[in-house]
Amino acid sequence: MSATAGERNWWKNAVIYEVYPRSFQDTNGDGIGDLNGITERLDYLKDLGVDAIWLTPVYPSPQVDFGYDISNYRDIDPQYGTLADFDRLVAEAGKRHIRVIMDMVMNHTSDRHEWFLQSRSSRDNPYRDWYMWHDGKGQTATSKGEPPNNWQSLFGHSAWQWDETTRQYYYHKFYIQQPDLNWHNPAVHEAFKQIMAFWLKRGVGGFRFDAITALFEDPSMADEGVVLDKNGKPEINAYGDPQLDDSKTDNQPGVHAVIAEMRAEADKFDGSAFPGARVMIGETYLPNIGELRKMYGTPRQPEFELPMDTQVAFINKLDVAAFRQRLTDAELRLGTHTPLLLFDNHDNPRIAARYGDGVHDMDIQRVIATILLASRGSALMYYGDEIGMKTTLPKRKEDVKDPIGITGWPKEKGRDGERTPMQWDGSANAGFTTGTPWLQVPGSAETVNVKAEERDPDSLFAWYKELIRLKKTVPAFEDGANIMLDAENTKVLSWMRQAPGTPQVVVSVNFTAQPQTVNLAIGGAGIGPRKLKTLLKTPGAADPVALNRIELGPYGVYIGEVQ
Ligand code: GLC
Repeated sequence: MSATAGERNWWKNAVIYEVYPRSFQDTNGDGIGDLNGITERLDYLKDLGVDAIWLTPVYPSPQVDFGYDISNYRDIDPQYGTLADFDRLVAEAGKRHIRVIMDMVMNHTSDRHEWFLQSRSSRDNPYRDWYMWHDGKGQTATSKGEPPNNWQSLFGHSAWQWDETTRQYYYHKFYIQQPDLNWHNPAVHEAFKQIMAFWLKRGVGGFRFDAITALFEDPSMADEGVVLDKNGKPEINAYGDPQLDDSKTDNQPGVHAVIAEMRAEADKFDGSAFPGARVMIGETYLPNIGELRKMYGTPRQPEFELPMDTQVAFINKLDVAAFRQRLTDAELRLGTHTPLLLFDNHDNPRIAARYGDGVHDMDIQRVIATILLASRGSALMYYGDEIGMKTTLPKRKEDVKDPIGITGWPKEKGRDGERTPMQWDGSANAGFTTGTPWLQVPGSAETVNVKAEERDPDSLFAWYKELIRLKKTVPAFEDGANIMLDAENTKVLSWMRQAPGTPQVVVSVNFTAQPQTVNLAIGGAGIGPRKLKTLLKTPGAADPVALNRIELGPYGVYIGEVQ
């Protein structure tokens, strides 16, 4: 059976749901989520309407970075299950038309990976050149000298770790236990192509490429610049180090060729034997839309189908003009490519923490969900967003699990706050585990949980579910152009979705705590003062009579079809 064009393009108007396996559902009582737990919850995910789940790493790992330090790329960590459990998850997900996307961590391995154990064992080991080894500055037979340059780990302090056995430093962009691979070595490329094939043959729906912009470093090895504050003094980061400008260690030129190479490899699995039709997603934190555009590659050398648009995601302020600008960029400056919008993931404080005002958080989360799901493109959401889970930071340093929260305490409390167990119901451990959860279940689980929200037609869960249903069923939402309306308005963001031969749909979201009225009967956009059929509106709001008078409550949302 060969994949139809529709199946091959499943990712173009998709909802992709990020699962943090450790925190989703535990089935064996050890307080840590597992693959069988995800399988158990597939009906829930199907009911929500998602097309794919992306699992953060479930490979064997010492779990220093909770799976992002991989010691074997071809197996499942016993904490999460077995390869047989994995195959069952993929099969059961497939029955529900849900794809399973794996995390692909190519920048570094665990320091316990066989490749690194070999590499560090002697200078002439065949794996020596798989990692980034360097002499220290001023190193002598008896002294290690200084680290080769000022480069820092994103997780604090020098990125160079001295290794006494072979008397050299190795480079690690992340934790000390995450040595960077050497992407100048063709053997590393080959190894990852084989790893991708291993999972594609098992039927995965694609990969999310971790930390992809960190793959290469400037061969000059020159120091990075120090970022200065407005008084001309070095900015100091949460770890107490001067903030560097990342100019020699991030988004270096070699990155694109590797992505294109991996894409060509993945494309080999598009044939009739693999009807799954995989997608390549990039973790692409980039400084601007131009750099994001490059991540799609060229027609001759395609790269990611879906590089994450972090431009929109991390505006971190309900600023109408900024949203209008960046959503317009996503629409007009990515060529014919599909934007991948997102607002949340396992590395950042959750939506309410970044966009909420503490008073209208529920409505503000509706605003964000609407932008995510009613704009053109694919949407990436994070488990728990759909019920409004909150960031719950550890209160004491001794409770912190994420090592950066220990290094950076109290300025940087780490990422535990957005990784707390999924809140399924109002019971003691929120239905997550019968054991002791690895991270404490937030008190809010009593009221913020799936069971309660499934029963409430006005809940955030109901809102997400309805938005996803509209995304899948309203013709203009399929691939209709995203056209900003009422472009001078600084309080309300409005846009229209428009596709030939289908009714236009307007969306208005109020970015303020005051009621607002908008007039979308704008001649230039081709829509007169016509009538509207409501598709979705903030619970309790009245229906507008016509396009020239849409009334929105505080952080109110309206979606209507132009009649
Ligand atoms: C990515 C992951 C993050 C991890 C880092 C190192 O940014 O999302 O969780 O710590 O890469 O692998």
